[in-house]
Formats: sequence, structure tokens, C-alpha cells
Amino acid sequence: MNIAVITGASSGMGKEFARRLILEKDEFCGAPFDELWIIARSQDKLQELKEELDSARLSDNTANPTSIRVIPMDLTASDTTSSLSALLQQEKPSVCLLINCAGMGKSGAFETQSVEDTHSAITLNCTALSEVTSVMLPYMIPLGDSSPKGKGPRILNIASSAGFLPQPNFAVYAATKSYVISFSRALDQEVRRHNIAVTCVCPGPVDTNFIKVSKNDPNASFTGFKAKFVTTVDKLIPASIKASQKGRSMLVFGFGQKCLHLASKILPTRLIFFFEKGMK
Ligand SMILES: NC(=O)c1ccc[n+]([C@@H]2O[C@H](COP(=O)([O-])OP(=O)(O)OC[C@H]3O[C@@H](n4cnc5c(N)ncnc54)[C@H](OP(=O)(O)O)[C@@H]3O)[C@@H](O)[C@H]2O)c1
Repeated sequence: MNIAVITGASSGMGKEFARRLILEKDEFCGAPFDELWIIARSQDKLQELKEELDSARLSDNTANPTSIRVIPMDLTASDTTSSLSALLQQEKPSVCLLINCAGMGKSGAFETQSVEDTHSAITLNCTALSEVTSVMLPYMIPLGDSSPKGKGPRILNIASSAGFLPQPNFAVYAATKSYVISFSRALDQEVRRHNIAVTCVCPGPVDTNFIKVSKNDPNASFTGFKAKFVTTVDKLIPASIKASQKGRSMLVFGFGQKCLHLASKILPTRLIFFFEKGMK
């Protein structure tokens, strides 16, 4: 059984990845998946997504025949890795595609953050992403070794342009995304020999629930400098899928983010902080 797995599929980018994979028939490893596993905490939202996609599939004979499996799971819980491992051992799938999309961060000065929020952000963005990848890899490597060159399994890790340099008032989140970038790029080098490509996606601000969760405010939106660079999932997700299919190791999405990426490589961080303060 060939499967694709998406964490953080109940909302925003993860949800759009699920929609695209089912409705747009994006192929990985040269064939449609037998199952798409969608993971997040909100069982009701995952179930709603499954029903939406199942009914869209039924009215479109040409859509992927993939069935959707809802896996409600808190990825910060201590038994996450063992329960995912148990499920994989039971089903023994071949994992064609893993999209690590679940993520969160609280904005504001570090001194105002609770210990619990700091723990959750680091656990979800770094620990869970690495451990989910670790338990999935044994189910990807044999498929990669036996697939035609360049057509092996794919991992998509959603980082952020926040990971390019330290971010005052978003310090923990930016640090976790630096981890995702570093981890993804190193892992990509390691697993290429098994015909697996890891793509690290670095968007700037995206119009999802992220900012509302981050500010603990259901009406929050990006403001100031960041508001100028907001993009939408219907632009970002197709570009991310294409980058992954091509086996690119990194996608920095949008002109503004590409400039920031370049600046972070060539300019002293203090100078960038100075410009950022001036633009606020
Ligand atoms: N939106 C942006 O501006 C932006 C920019 C750059 C990068 N990113 C990154 O993009 C990724 C997707 O974010 P998004 O914008 O799509 O935000 P979102 O709409 O808030 O989605 C976050 C997803 O993560 C899941 N999640 C949160 N905590 C979880 C937990 N403990 N266990 C399991 N799942 C959990 C949420 O589902 P439940 O609540 O149901 O668990 C939801 O499905 C994140 O990694 C984020 O850091 C976002």
C-alpha cells in the first residue's frame, strides 16, 4: 500500500496540500496513493475535510482513487512516536510522501511567553517533525531504493523565512524554524543516496489561522511591514508540490523572502535589525 502523510492537515497549508493531492491528481513515485493519512488534533475538522474530499471525488470520476484516513493526534504528546510506529508496523505501508506541516509559534516578547507555550512550540516544530520523519523513513527507504532515479519518495518540511535570522518578539518560533531549515538540508544530503528528496519550504506571511493562533486573537491579521508580503495557500502549495516533484532541496517563496534570504547571507544581522526597525 502506497501512502502520503500530512501533519497539520486540519487547517491552512496542510489542508490545502490534502485538497491538491486528491483533487488535482498530483503524483509522487509515479502513481496515485492508495491512502492519504491526515494528522492533527481536531478530529472534527479532519473528518469534515475527509467528507469534503470524498464527495468531490465521487462527483469527479477522474479524481484520485485514494482513500483518506483521519488520524487525530496531538504531536506534542509523549506517546506520539510510539503510536505512529505501532500504526506503521501494523499497516506496513510504503510512504511516498511525507509533508511535515504542523507548526505553531506565539508572538510577543519572550518574557511574556508561558513556559508551556515555549515547550509546545519547540516540541511541535522541532521534536515532533524530527521524530515523525524518523519513524516514517524505514517505510520510505526500500521504496526509494527500488524506484527509478529521481522518482523516489519525497519529504516536504514547512519551515519559514523566520528561520533565516533571529526575530525579536518571535524569538522561539524563529529559532525552531532555523532548526527545520538546518535539519532538512542535512537530511536531504543523507537520504539522496536512497533516491529520496527533502524539500524545505520557506514562505513569508501566509493567510491562514497561523497568525490568529500566534497572537491568541481570532481577528488578528498581519500588520505593518509583514502585511506587504502576505501570500495565499492557493499560490504557495502548488509551487511547493512542484518544487518537491523536481527534487529541489529548498523553496524560498516570493520575491521579498528571496531578498531577505540573500540579505541574511551577506549582511551583518545588526544591520538587518536596523533596517527592520526603520521600516516599522
Ligand atoms: N501562516 C504563516 O504565515 C506561515 C509562514 C511561514 C511558515 N508557516 C508554517 O506553516 C506551517 C503550517 O501553518 P499554517 O499557516 O497552515 O497554520 P494553521 O492554519 O494554524 O495550521 C497549523 C496546523 O498545525 C496543527 N497543529 C497545531 N498544533 C498541533 C499539535 N500539537 N499536534 C498536531 N497538530 C497540530 C493544527 O491542527 P490542530 O489545531 O487541529 O491540531 C493545524 O492543522 C507551520 O509549520 C507554520 O509554522 C506559516
